Amino acid sequence: MKTYIRIKLLLVTFFLSLSVLASGGELHLDEAHTDISNTASLQNGAKLFMNYCSGCHAISFMRYNRIAKDLSLSDSAVAENLMFAGEKVGELITTAMPEDAASKWFGGVPPDLSLVARSKGTDWIYSYLRGFYPDDSKVFGVNNKVLANASMPDALWSLKENQSGAEFDQSVRDITNFLDYVGEPAKLIRTGLGAWVLSFLVLLFVLSYFLKKEYWKDVKYGIWRSRD
Ligand code: HEC
Repeated sequence: MKTYIRIKLLLVTFFLSLSVLASGGELHLDEAHTDISNTASLQNGAKLFMNYCSGCHAISFMRYNRIAKDLSLSDSAVAENLMFAGEKVGELITTAMPEDAASKWFGGVPPDLSLVARSKGTDWIYSYLRGFYPDDSKVFGVNNKVLANASMPDALWSLKENQSGAEFDQSVRDITNFLDYVGEPAKLIRTGLGAWVLSFLVLLFVLSYFLKKEYWKDVKYGIWRSRD
């Protein structure tokens, strides 16, 4: 009976690993290597996002003045570099694109990207933005390796033409980094806070250790011992 169960387990493991291998082969994602603590990268990503993406995509969970605060920018720098005329710094970052026009042009409204880094992950976004290739059968003349038949044009084509390969990768990395930050702005504070909490715990451990030694001195050699 035992051998029977063992063989069964072996077979199950074998087929499970086969299916993992098979599914792994379907889609190759490049690693984004983003770093949310890199403020310069986040600032550049914000600027690129506003220039190349916000015409179609909203990030409506985010306000301009929150970006100013988190990315160490003054309100006036944000107004100058990131905002369109007539907007206020306290406003949410919506898009100017009317929904009915969007449906006509793209067959759907371009999705809000507030949480896309959390639903798809940074590697996916990085690979998607770098994954456009020419395809004349499509309306916009491009198709995408990561999202087949995507109804989004290659928004970064002019950047791709004017930058070297490495520069373009860095630009895409910065946009991806910015979207990662947008997905969870508190991450900036959370990770910084984590280091403080851990150092506090280490200090507390050292102090408690010496306190314990002090108490046990009495238990081992002290007054109670000598009494018996
Ligand atoms: C001309 C309009 C337009 C521009 C500009 C544009 N997009 Fe898109 N984007 C779309 C549309 C439409 C879709 C939906 C594609 C689909 O599902 O086929 C999309 C989809 C996406 C998705 C996938 C979202 C999901 O959850 O499936 C991401 C990520 C994305 N865009 C990021 C960007 C970034 C970053 C930029 C700026 C570099 C950008 N887009 C510029 C129209 C646009």
